Amino acid sequence: MAHISQVYCRKFSTSPAVAGAIKHVTVIGGGLMGSGIAQVAAATGHNVVMVDQTDDILSKSKAAIQKSLGRVAKKKFADDGERQSSFVADVMGRIQLNTDPVDAAKSTDLVVEAIVENLDVKKKLFSALDEAAPQHTIFASNTSSLPIRDIAESTNRLDRFGGLHFFNPVPMMKLVEVVKIPETSNETFERLVQLGKAMGKTTVDCKDTPGFIVNRLLVPYMMEAVRMLERGDASARDIDTAMKLGAGYPMGPFELADYVGLDTTKFIIDGWSKKYPDVQIFQESPYVNKLVADGKLGKKTGEGFYKYDKK
Ligand SMILES: NC(=O)c1ccc[n+]([C@@H]2O[C@H](COP(=O)([O-])OP(=O)(O)OC[C@H]3O[C@@H](n4cnc5c(N)ncnc54)[C@H](O)[C@@H]3O)[C@@H](O)[C@H]2O)c1
Repeated sequence: MAHISQVYCRKFSTSPAVAGAIKHVTVIGGGLMGSGIAQVAAATGHNVVMVDQTDDILSKSKAAIQKSLGRVAKKKFADDGERQSSFVADVMGRIQLNTDPVDAAKSTDLVVEAIVENLDVKKKLFSALDEAAPQHTIFASNTSSLPIRDIAESTNRLDRFGGLHFFNPVPMMKLVEVVKIPETSNETFERLVQLGKAMGKTTVDCKDTPGFIVNRLLVPYMMEAVRMLERGDASARDIDTAMKLGAGYPMGPFELADYVGLDTTKFIIDGWSKKYPDVQIFQESPYVNKLVADGKLGKKTGEGFYKYDKK
């Protein structure tokens, strides 16, 4: 049965069936990305329902949002503890929690999905939501690497389906890629762009191409750096130094890959190499495969291309 937190038990009103600004946002997945999206949506005045599989996960996500908002409040209202507390309480008051995605979809303007990166799981979710959500509700996925069209085909609302690709950490990163599949209506696309802007982000428009803009350029770049290393052209340290000092990048490709997580990079490249076996720059790397098999996933495990002090 649907659980709605006792603390956040107010019922929110939703927009009427006519098109207008998105006011009520349902975020499915309360992990790294979903909790960030929920936080920013609520902080910019939207009514939010955050959905995850268990109450336990949701209470951890809620605690993470509260902590993050506390940091925002400290910056916003430097020495005013009272205003800091009321800011946090106000934003948290706009976030409801629910363990039943179908129940949450029954009255919302937008569903943003940020669950596990698995096509079948995402399709199953959207197919169930499609039956329950009102006509005007727009569906969006935050997937990093799966084609939006492949996810959308599980529904009967292709014209009201798009991609909203946020970046980690969502409260800090300014960009949202708004992704259009061939069937996305202009009205849907405009409403997604407006939402991105209303959340304080800069939006860029992109077709449903693998990796959209950022990952389409970044992932092959990181993999090309690994191939240089595999050939013995230069060391990881020198490639990083070269790209920082010669190209002005804030991080080198190996530092970046360790930060992103080598499992994540491998997951994306494995999907692309399977789907596009003839595209050379999408090919996997034996070096990355070995690091991942050894559990060296980057910063989060204390070792990837580099070693890190565990705190
Ligand atoms: N991590 C990143 O840097 C990043 C950046 C942009 C986009 N993305 C994309 O965002 C999505 C989520 O990534 P993340 O890093 O937040 O993952 P995560 O593992 O931190 O969180 C995923 C959450 O979804 C929940 N979940 C899984 N299946 C569910 C279901 N059927 N119903 C409800 N909740 C479910 C899990 O319990 C978990 O809390 C993925 O599609 C990923 O590709 C990730």
